[in-house]
Amino acid sequence: MSTDLASVLGARILPVLTVPCARMADPLAQALVQGGARCAEVTFRTPEAEQVLKTMAAHGGLTVGAGTVLTPQQAERAVAAGARFVVSPGFDAEVVATCRTLGVPVLPGIATATELLRALRAGIDTVKLFPAAVLGGVPLLSSLAAPFPQVRFVPTGGIGLSQVSAYLAHPAVLAVGGSWMATAGHLERGDYEGIRRLTAEATERSTP
Ligand code: 3PG
Repeated sequence: MSTDLASVLGARILPVLTVPCARMADPLAQALVQGGARCAEVTFRTPEAEQVLKTMAAHGGLTVGAGTVLTPQQAERAVAAGARFVVSPGFDAEVVATCRTLGVPVLPGIATATELLRALRAGIDTVKLFPAAVLGGVPLLSSLAAPFPQVRFVPTGGIGLSQVSAYLAHPAVLAVGGSWMATAGHLERGDYEGIRRLTAEATERSTP
């Protein structure tokens, strides 16, 4: 099993999903696949997140990871539920070590150069820049990337379709993440067609 995040994701768009009910997992996975998504992050922010992850991982066609992983225990549960990668909003050395032991790639969040230095010291070379938009967007990303040319970034947080191309054009960006393709509103309304359409628009912008 590959532990290289780029090959595990297999795509430059990472839909971030916060799913309230496990029954939504199948139609959601289908809409994402039909929209051209290759990967998705299921956040551990809802009581049914583990079941959602299991169902989506079993659906096929998507590489599913776990997001909002805050503790080593959550990382273990996520991987047991089928997560192929683990995302955290911040950097925690124990979460990183646990993922390494479990053999899954981990994408910790950083917001400053100091946090990035800590992540590098733990052997990380790809980080989630979070929350990217409020931190300063592409100009902030450029400033952080300059002293760390070996680092790849996955900016996430406050990003929408109109900013995707600008982030993806930056050579330090591996992929862009966000919830705009499948929001709480889409899921409440059962608007899977809207999810498919927004996903398709995003994936189109990610293909050269
Ligand atoms: C995340 O967990 O990565 C973020 O909450 C996603 O940010 P967004 O909802 O602003 O896209």
